[in-house]
Amino acid sequence: MCPRTRSRALQDLFLPIEWLDEGKVRFLDQTLLPQEETWVETADYRVVAEAIRRLQLRGAPLIGVSAAYGLALAALESAATDAEALRRDVTEAADVLRATRPTAVNLSWALDRCLRALESASDAAGARETLVRTAREIHEEDVAANQRIGAYGAELLPSGVSVMTHCNAGALATGGYGTALGVVRAAWTGGQLRHVIATETRPLLQGARLTAWELKREAIPFTLIADSAAGSALRRGLAGAVVVGADRIAANGDVANKIGTYGLAVLAKENGVPFYVAAPTSTIDLSLPSGDEIPIEERSADEVTSVRGVNIAPNDIDAANPAFDVTPNAYVSAIITENGVARPPYEESLRRACEAGVPARG
Ligand code: MRU
Repeated sequence: MCPRTRSRALQDLFLPIEWLDEGKVRFLDQTLLPQEETWVETADYRVVAEAIRRLQLRGAPLIGVSAAYGLALAALESAATDAEALRRDVTEAADVLRATRPTAVNLSWALDRCLRALESASDAAGARETLVRTAREIHEEDVAANQRIGAYGAELLPSGVSVMTHCNAGALATGGYGTALGVVRAAWTGGQLRHVIATETRPLLQGARLTAWELKREAIPFTLIADSAAGSALRRGLAGAVVVGADRIAANGDVANKIGTYGLAVLAKENGVPFYVAAPTSTIDLSLPSGDEIPIEERSADEVTSVRGVNIAPNDIDAANPAFDVTPNAYVSAIITENGVARPPYEESLRRACEAGVPARG
């Protein structure tokens, strides 16, 4: 790590990406975890775009932070000598970054914020500085938001609780600290948490590879289970709460998250276990009335027919690979944001959470 590039807010935390003073970003290649911890350094925004597409950088908030750094790199790389020409180059780069993944709204949220910041720049040097500063602000704000989410979420959990989580919504999926795993971290630090149950999360195994890596690193006790073991674990009372992240939350509280989340939510409700979604307001898309309008990424069938490069199914078969599903709001007990805990009816509580920074606790 390179502490001289870090603000006070980011010190002492594991960060999956960081800005280097020489005008580069450095990020951990998550496709290689847990076997290899390989850091990539680049000054090329196209490398960042490809990293998002390939899931070297993944998780909704981290996609947003990475895209913002990508735009800053594009601005530094541009040969433009005036603000107008620089804006054109940066807008082109924004289009490339925006096209990488469709579901996480944090991507366009971050790009649009950077492009808006650029509007007031009057010369190329000022525009470059603005983009670097805005990207760093987005990163710092995300980490601060996650810490607040953690604190609000921990308040919802009883003492001695075991928490089930799906996919990876940890430090690796965000600017740092994590959303669902931020709640886990805060509850662990506060002495409330007994244990975590992490689902493996087929097809790309973010639970087995990434959540297990993070929890092991911090010595938080956990058990990894196959996705198909979740229902029985909930029925046996092994988890007192399910806490997951989100890629996009519609105005009515429908939640898009990693494929398999919907099934977990239904199983949680059936077994009387509260189902919490932890996400910053940058994941809430008030422009979409319901989850039906959320675009769901369809990924290559190879990810289903093989595991880490090894074929597990016959050749030439039909396989489908939706990367996300939508959990209807009726299954969501509460949505934990950095501005407080939103409860049903979500139209009202999510709007308040987004508007204000004013606590929307219910
Ligand atoms: O395909 P991924 O690994 O990017 O999917 C990640 C998830 O679904 C996470 O749960 C979500 O982005 C929230 S991360 C804080």
